[in-house]
Amino acid sequence: MAITTSQQTGKAGELYVPRHIAVIMDGNGRWAKKRGLPRTAGHAVGAEAFRKIALHCRDIGVEYLTVYAFSTENWKRPEDEVGTIMRLLGKYLQEAIETMEREKMKMRIFGDVTGLHPELQGMIAKTNEISRHIDGFQANICLNYGGRAEILQAAQRYAEDYSRDPEKALTEELFSDYLYSSGVPDPDLMIRTGGEQRISNFLLWQCAYAEFYFTDVLWPDFSPAELDRAIAAFQKRDRRYGGVKA
Ligand code: FPP
Repeated sequence: MAITTSQQTGKAGELYVPRHIAVIMDGNGRWAKKRGLPRTAGHAVGAEAFRKIALHCRDIGVEYLTVYAFSTENWKRPEDEVGTIMRLLGKYLQEAIETMEREKMKMRIFGDVTGLHPELQGMIAKTNEISRHIDGFQANICLNYGGRAEILQAAQRYAEDYSRDPEKALTEELFSDYLYSSGVPDPDLMIRTGGEQRISNFLLWQCAYAEFYFTDVLWPDFSPAELDRAIAAFQKRDRRYGGVKA
């Protein structure tokens, strides 16, 4: 497949890799059910799929990958399932702490981390610290995340700043700085696996101009080849941002 790096984005007539890809990793439970396994087994294989996709993104020149690992609504799931997902995240964060420098991968967590186990919070603080010394690909993991809640907390924080400094005129750029994703460009491509076609409270502000790609493939089966297919579909899209074709 003819793909070039994201640095070449914008050159007329050239195919390019999206700079930022966001993914709703859906279908872990169904993947497990089809095999007569507990749902938690699907999450374990799903975590592996995430590892492979992150490395592939880094290798082909994607700059940011943002995944929806745990929503503010996911606390409603059975206790053992929530526990398994949290354990998998802890395992992943621990591995990341040990390997991210060597792998040249930065990491950020988007979401209300104060609602997470103190041990996870400690690991997140460590990955933030290590990320400061790394230049390159960045994985953003959305944890205890909700798009509306993100916008609300941004509005509250802006209002507090405004009461101190009424000169602070509100623009889209300024507001974006109050979101968890501050400093990260908006996603170019949003992928949802598992057959559903909805956004489920994910990156509501940031996806204003994202291209959407839906696939029936269940997340644990989503391979680097599947990602290349999604990118190839993206490369055929005509992004106009509300304008007309040049
Ligand atoms: C959606 O599938 C998946 C989740 C809510 C959890 C995603 C978590 C992981 C992939 C594991 C940890 C992640 C990282 C980044 C290490 P579902 O359970 O809703 O599937 P279903 O729709 O088939 O029931």
